[in-house]
Amino acid sequence: GKGVKSRFVCTECGYEVSKWVGKCPGCGAWNSMVEQVRGGERERGERRGGSGVVWLPEVVAQGEERIVTGVGEFDRVLGGGLVRGSVVLVGGEPGIGKSTLVLQVAARLAGGVKVVYAAGEESVGQVAARAARLGCGKAEVELAAETQVESLEALLRQRRADVVVVDSLQMLYSPQMGSAPGTVNQLKFCAYELAQWAREQGGVVLLVAHVTKEGVIAGPKQVEHMVDTVLYVEAAEHNLRILRGVKNRFGSVDEIGVFEMTGKGLVEVAEVSRLFLVQREGGVPPGVVVAPVVEGSRAFLVEIQALTVPAKSGVSRVYAGSIEPARVSRVAAVLEKHVGVQFGSQDLYVNVAGGLRVQEVGVELPLAMALYSARTGLAVPAGLVVVGELSLAGEVRAVRDLRRRVRTARELGFERVVSPPGDGADPLLVVRNVKEAVRAVF
Ligand code: TYD
Ligand code: MG
Repeated sequence: GKGVKSRFVCTECGYEVSKWVGKCPGCGAWNSMVEQVRGGERERGERRGGSGVVWLPEVVAQGEERIVTGVGEFDRVLGGGLVRGSVVLVGGEPGIGKSTLVLQVAARLAGGVKVVYAAGEESVGQVAARAARLGCGKAEVELAAETQVESLEALLRQRRADVVVVDSLQMLYSPQMGSAPGTVNQLKFCAYELAQWAREQGGVVLLVAHVTKEGVIAGPKQVEHMVDTVLYVEAAEHNLRILRGVKNRFGSVDEIGVFEMTGKGLVEVAEVSRLFLVQREGGVPPGVVVAPVVEGSRAFLVEIQALTVPAKSGVSRVYAGSIEPARVSRVAAVLEKHVGVQFGSQDLYVNVAGGLRVQEVGVELPLAMALYSARTGLAVPAGLVVVGELSLAGEVRAVRDLRRRVRTARELGFERVVSPPGDGADPLLVVRNVKEAVRAVF
């Protein structure tokens, strides 16, 4: 039928050909080819009659076939699981928990699908010991101490793997690319080779890659454009680990995954709304504003803390790790222009409690209120949260999911929400520009 193609697979080594041959071109075995008929949807790039082209109508439109890993926070960030035929890169600083995460994912997958774990950073014995510590020592994961990419690819074909975990990309090498692993050419070549395997076989490649704090030499940045999905693991306070997508061909990059690193590995944290909230006795100090932010499908409250002090060097500077410094400067400029508060001689420090990096635009108005509060010494009343985007003209712009944010704030005991107009807004606390916001809050 249409889109159903047969191919012949060597029972000895897994080599595939489109026409039957008596001797396997892969391993030289005789009469080892058996026919396999599969639906066309996984036959991306199928060639018709060796002419090098396919007829468009004969190519069955490719749907995404997902493999749900069962690690909910991981699946969430992926957009519903691993997509067959794709490559996922998991980056992060050394010691952050990448190996732990991918091993837990591999263990969870095993049984349902065939998982090969290619260990390069550690011996298979060390991986097994870690698995035992994580309570998944019995998982049916195939461990391989293989770092040469051609051999690994042959192994994946031979084992008919569905998923391969490579820990790490930096340890992979091909003799075709010189002797030293870890060079940019090696990374690119190896990532490309494995991507080819994934696309041809409908497999999934999970590549672990380290980044260093000081920018990256031969790191994942060089291969980000070659892979389908790029996830980074970041640390926050209280042993929290945030999994964040920076690229995803098969989903949004809004979602974050939250885990806690414990003695038994990473534990999923599904309920996040109050995770980054600071419990306070008594009043709110100046410079502190709570904001309901939305990351993907979840809303949670974060505490923004600002501090302004006379500039040490005479030139004012911004020190902000959790919010983009450029955003802090811009919001301060908007306040100067439209509210008249001066930051010219000041150093600005901004932090988000709990160490969470906040990227969404709804944090701009609360940030403005925190800066204003810090500069004037006027505290924000307790039980009040602020949300909104800020334009250069000082206008407060609508944010998505306002209703959800308001609901989350109320659930956590914050009765008043200063916000732009929108579904769910409190009409008494709707503000249209930053001046109105200052009047409403202080
Ligand atoms: P790891 O996954 O090895 O990090 P990466 O692969 O990103 O370098 O995790 C490193 C740290 O995590 C290590 O310092 C010990 C800690 N850890 C735990 O706290 N609990 C655990 O169950 C495991 C396996 C590791
Ligand atoms: Mg590791």
